[in-house]
Amino acid sequence: MKIGYVQSSPIFGNKRKNFEQIEELITKKKADLIVLPELFATGYTFISRKEVDNLAEGKNGETANFLKDISKKTGAIIVGGFIEKVGDDIYNSALMILNKNIIGIYRKLHLYYKEKLWFKQGNLALNVFEIKGFKIGMMICFDWFFPETMRSLSLLGADIIAHPANLVLPYCQKAMVIRCLENRVYAVTSNRIGEEKRGSDNFLFTGASQITSYNGEVLSRAPSDELFLDFRDIKVINARNKKLNDYNDLFNDRRIDYYRL
Ligand code: ACM
Repeated sequence: MKIGYVQSSPIFGNKRKNFEQIEELITKKKADLIVLPELFATGYTFISRKEVDNLAEGKNGETANFLKDISKKTGAIIVGGFIEKVGDDIYNSALMILNKNIIGIYRKLHLYYKEKLWFKQGNLALNVFEIKGFKIGMMICFDWFFPETMRSLSLLGADIIAHPANLVLPYCQKAMVIRCLENRVYAVTSNRIGEEKRGSDNFLFTGASQITSYNGEVLSRAPSDELFLDFRDIKVINARNKKLNDYNDLFNDRRIDYYRL
């Protein structure tokens, strides 16, 4: 199975240009799974709820259509972030798409910083989607900080965690090594680059998108400041064996009667 990411540099509010940028990077590359950043179509640093509302879409909006086109072009399952509008509620969401079909939707559970002003907390249970024989779970950016997210997805049977991100702190790439090791799953973290100076915030996004292996090995890491795309071949069967050695199985050895969660 070939999995990978696109690392883009969204221009705030310019969906058309942001779609073009990704199209140019992907060209005709063939893959099984391609992950795009969080909010890749819109940018991240909002200054009013009205602004967020104007950029929000339904799950069959222009960003979903773009993801469908990219999926058709590459044959890949595509995961990417968007601002989702459901009635009067707005979520920081991700779509999983294959060809013309929505396979799954995820709404960010753990909102970071001023996201709490703009978005509603995700209200969908963590879920793993089985497609083409692969089991894929989604989480978005800051969700990594809560180990329960990846643990839950892994206990649900995920082989791979698709992880759209807009990272502004320097910890995630290192943490994903441990998250993958402790759960024996693969992860694709697709981060963005560039700076957004808006209102009182000035974010420098950290790039360094990463493919992390079930054994904690970093299979690919992008530069911190360049548009980038990369793929790696993996064997999902590795993520289905939770045995560390003949005596230790990372899931069966859990002492759940003694945990207080
Ligand atoms: C983040 O969750 N986008 C920092």
